[in-house]
Amino acid sequence: MSSRILIIGACGQIGSELTYKLREIHGSENVIASDISYNNLEVVNSGIFEIVDAQDYSSILICVEKHKIDTIYLMAAMLSATGEKYPMKAWDLNMNSLFHVLNLAKAKYISKVFWPSSIAVFGPTTPKDNTPQHTVMEPTTVYGITKQVGERWCEYYYDKYGVDVRSIRYPGIISWKTMPGGGTTDYAVEIYHKAITDGQYESFLSENTELPMMFMDDAIDATIKLMDAPANSLSIRSSYNLAAMSFTPKEIAKEIQKHIKDFIITYNPDFRQQIADSWPKSIDDSYARKDWGWDHQFDLEKMSSEMLLQLEKKYTTSKK
Ligand code: SER
Repeated sequence: MSSRILIIGACGQIGSELTYKLREIHGSENVIASDISYNNLEVVNSGIFEIVDAQDYSSILICVEKHKIDTIYLMAAMLSATGEKYPMKAWDLNMNSLFHVLNLAKAKYISKVFWPSSIAVFGPTTPKDNTPQHTVMEPTTVYGITKQVGERWCEYYYDKYGVDVRSIRYPGIISWKTMPGGGTTDYAVEIYHKAITDGQYESFLSENTELPMMFMDDAIDATIKLMDAPANSLSIRSSYNLAAMSFTPKEIAKEIQKHIKDFIITYNPDFRQQIADSWPKSIDDSYARKDWGWDHQFDLEKMSSEMLLQLEKKYTTSKK
């Protein structure tokens, strides 16, 4: 029997691409996209779409029962930068939505859950290079706190109630279809757009700020691989470290200059600098590679060619 999947937060950067990919795999009729509003018409018009409020247990339950859902991907969240502006809203959204979905699984309405964690679970006291899976975690952002606490609850629900919940600590995700919203790693998406539209970009992180990053295709591939892995191969039920590449604003700019010779980058760090400074530079993801065969395809060079190619096409078509 094919899975019946609900994606909560399907209008967002990762949720949208996960929706498209899962529909390819499981058939459009088996993948229900949902969000709090119709704020991504491409997703809304691409198949079955429901309005679901991730903070409202009955809103999710009604949708689960209506569509006979067995698997939920909970992609709704408030990210690091926005979370610092609205700490209580971030806490409420990120935690309530997770509890609702875990409780639906505990009550056996659904049998499998994907919930994303983040490199934001780490903090200034974490070793910065090749950050291990098990290490000191003292996050300093509200977003990071919600993700770290969420990881503890995922493991708890697995241990105590046998809930099959799976998770990845995503690095910064770079993509061209849907813009990210409110993250500290967003500069690495904006820079490609501005390179094409303006030929220049002012970075809100300083030139040597190194962060772990990943191209969207790899992130989607990892998510699906983890969800397809046999349960007994998974040794981590909090959240898996995951890595592909690390770079600084200066390095990404240099890569863009190989394609757009006159591209200019300037630096004007804001409050997001402090967030970035608290996160790792690179991640040790050997558990993911060993347990479920994770392997990335995109490095900075390959990703930059693909981003610029796709965005060039996108902006040319939108001008016509
Ligand atoms: N991309 C996220 C952020 O910057 C990290 O998970 O908030």
